[in-house]
Amino acid sequence: MSTGEAVGPYGPGTLSAVQTEVVGRRREIQLVIAALMAARHLMLEGPPGTGKSTILRAVAKAGGHGFEFIEGNAELTPARLVGHFDPAQVMESGYSPEVWVDGPLARALRDGSLLYLEEINRIPEETLNLLVTVMSEGELTIPRLGRIDASPNFRMVAAMNPFDAVGTARISGAIYDRVCRIGMGYQSEDDEQAIVNRHAPWPNSEFPSRVVSLVRATRNHPEIRVGSSVRGAVDLLLLATDLGTLRGLPPEHHDVGLDAALTALSGRIRLHDSSTTTPEAVITELYRQLVEPDDAEGHIDSNGAPEPGKAKRRQEAATTTTSES
Ligand SMILES: Nc1ncnc2c1ncn2[C@@H]1O[C@H](COP(=O)(O)OP(=O)(O)OP(=O)(O)O)[C@@H](O)[C@H]1O
Ligand SMILES: [Mg+2]
Repeated sequence: MSTGEAVGPYGPGTLSAVQTEVVGRRREIQLVIAALMAARHLMLEGPPGTGKSTILRAVAKAGGHGFEFIEGNAELTPARLVGHFDPAQVMESGYSPEVWVDGPLARALRDGSLLYLEEINRIPEETLNLLVTVMSEGELTIPRLGRIDASPNFRMVAAMNPFDAVGTARISGAIYDRVCRIGMGYQSEDDEQAIVNRHAPWPNSEFPSRVVSLVRATRNHPEIRVGSSVRGAVDLLLLATDLGTLRGLPPEHHDVGLDAALTALSGRIRLHDSSTTTPEAVITELYRQLVEPDDAEGHIDSNGAPEPGKAKRRQEAATTTTSES
């Protein structure tokens, strides 16, 4: 079991190093670092795209902590996580330590790394049980190989997304009782804007901030069960730039921006089962309310006339749909 020894140079200096890579999230970063310093295992719970992986990678890097990343899914068997005996070599020389191949868990235990397990709720029961054993005992016994003790710096951080259809109810009390938990909501509008500016820099214009408002509004729309993460805003802007080039139009042009919005967002939002509309219709509605400039070239109503009062409508829509979660 981990002994609480300090890991690498984790400490007050880690925070400032992480903050050069991560926008905002000061509290969560502090909590992650404190948990790792205290030799605790962690669970991060939050919607997609809320910075869970970004924070963990930056913290491990700043702390000089080895990092093993695993994507949880139904195929993550104990053998894939822990390691296996090479079948061809077993035929030749039998089960001996020389023919054992470490998987990410065995490596992390031996090296004292940070094992980051995404979508933990998707992994099979048998593999989850193994993780419980590792967290309780700080060691792992492998038939025909023997015991692997956790190095004092071994830490496990799991992540999951509360909207996941597989359901977070699969995570048993046995796991929850062995980890500390940090809940992560969506970030503030200013922070999302700063993230978008890093990933999709844009010449001086109001377009990116309108795109951020649009993406945030998808999280509060009555027809939508799960809205888009900030990734949707980044994709929309990147797409609009290249689509504008292909069409010989400015990227903010209605004929470019709306298509970019539909392409970037229609697969990211999930409507309520009872909804009778379509993702495309909802995105088109929100785009018209929140993104189109008042004098949008090419924007006309069904009678061919420019739509009046757009600024006012946009203001109303933004105040009713972007309340902080
Ligand atoms: N606070 C942040 N600072 C910098 N970039 C961020 C931040 N939050 C999110 N991002 C960016 O947004 C994208 C999604 O973030 P990330 O992969 O960390 O989310 P996640 O919570 O791990 O999502 P998922 O649950 O889907 O795995 C990345 O491109 C990342 O760079
Ligand atoms: Mg992630």
